[in-house]
Amino acid sequence: MPRIIVTGAGGRLGAALVREWNTAGLDVIGFGRQELDLAQPEQMRRALEAVEFGVLVNCAAQTNVDRCETERDEAMRINADAVRTLAEICKAKGARCVQISTDYVFDGAKTSPYTEEDPVVPISHYGESKRAGELAVLEVSDNNLAVRVSWVFGPDRPSFVDGIVKRALTEEKVEAIADKIAVPTYTLDAARLLKPFLFDVPVGGVLHLCNGGSCTWQEYGQYALDCAVEAGMPLKARTVGPLKMTDLKAFIAKRPPNTAMSTARLTKLTGVHPRDWREAVREYIAKHVAVKP
Ligand SMILES: NC(=O)c1ccc[n+]([C@@H]2O[C@H](COP(=O)([O-])OP(=O)(O)OC[C@H]3O[C@@H](n4cnc5c(N)ncnc54)[C@H](OP(=O)(O)O)[C@@H]3O)[C@@H](O)[C@H]2O)c1
Repeated sequence: MPRIIVTGAGGRLGAALVREWNTAGLDVIGFGRQELDLAQPEQMRRALEAVEFGVLVNCAAQTNVDRCETERDEAMRINADAVRTLAEICKAKGARCVQISTDYVFDGAKTSPYTEEDPVVPISHYGESKRAGELAVLEVSDNNLAVRVSWVFGPDRPSFVDGIVKRALTEEKVEAIADKIAVPTYTLDAARLLKPFLFDVPVGGVLHLCNGGSCTWQEYGQYALDCAVEAGMPLKARTVGPLKMTDLKAFIAKRPPNTAMSTARLTKLTGVHPRDWREAVREYIAKHVAVKP
């Protein structure tokens, strides 16, 4: 089987893909920012021209939504221009390029789950730059794939779920946003769900990939605390109070209110139904959060 390159291998999703696919017996090489910096096109070319591979999965990105709002040129360079360069390098090598994208390409006004056919209307510069990255990768080859994930969590880098449990261990009161809905994506599930699309189902276009169901940040946090209590963690706060998006004065970029995504295309192509986000969060807390000293 041809080799897989994962860029952004030091990040939450990239690290999980490298480890899980290596464990599954695939030939995977991960490139972190040191080896492959998306801000340096020549270094990108040198790094990739030296290796043979059949597919590249780009997990590297400027993922700080508020920084993208203030550093717009940088966001476009990393999340779009560099993605085109990656896709062109892949094309020259006869390899496919799989770009990891985001639910933030939507404006969040829809009240039912977004499908791949729904129009994209980014409301932040992060969303705009990631949409430009999708278009770049899809323009370079029809075989390339843009995979939209949302609310990524997993053992390789802390995220919302780790943060709320940590706060509940020391604070009497914790709160989370109750007027924003999306679907959590567990990185270990993402590795399993994405694996068929590497070689067995080499479709192009856009694909939504996340766990099943949907929730608000408050529901997500509450379920994480319930699981932590069940796993024996000595929490001080056991209830997550509601916040409105407008309460968070630190937010610079606008966040889309409802970006729950439908994974019907993924199921149609693979026969796999992603498990509900609650099952994934429960397993994550028991195996990776509750066991920490
Ligand atoms: N996290 C979410 O909830 C979420 C939601 C929707 C979509 N996504 C998408 O999912 C993908 C993976 O996100 P993640 O959660 O794994 O985020 P992450 O942990 O922030 O990982 C992103 C990685 O990209 C690297 N990176 C940043 N700038 C770079 C550059 N100039 N050159 C090379 N590498 C660079 C970062 O390196 P450093 O570690 O050195 O900073 C980091 O390792 C991204 O495409 C993101 O847009 C994430």
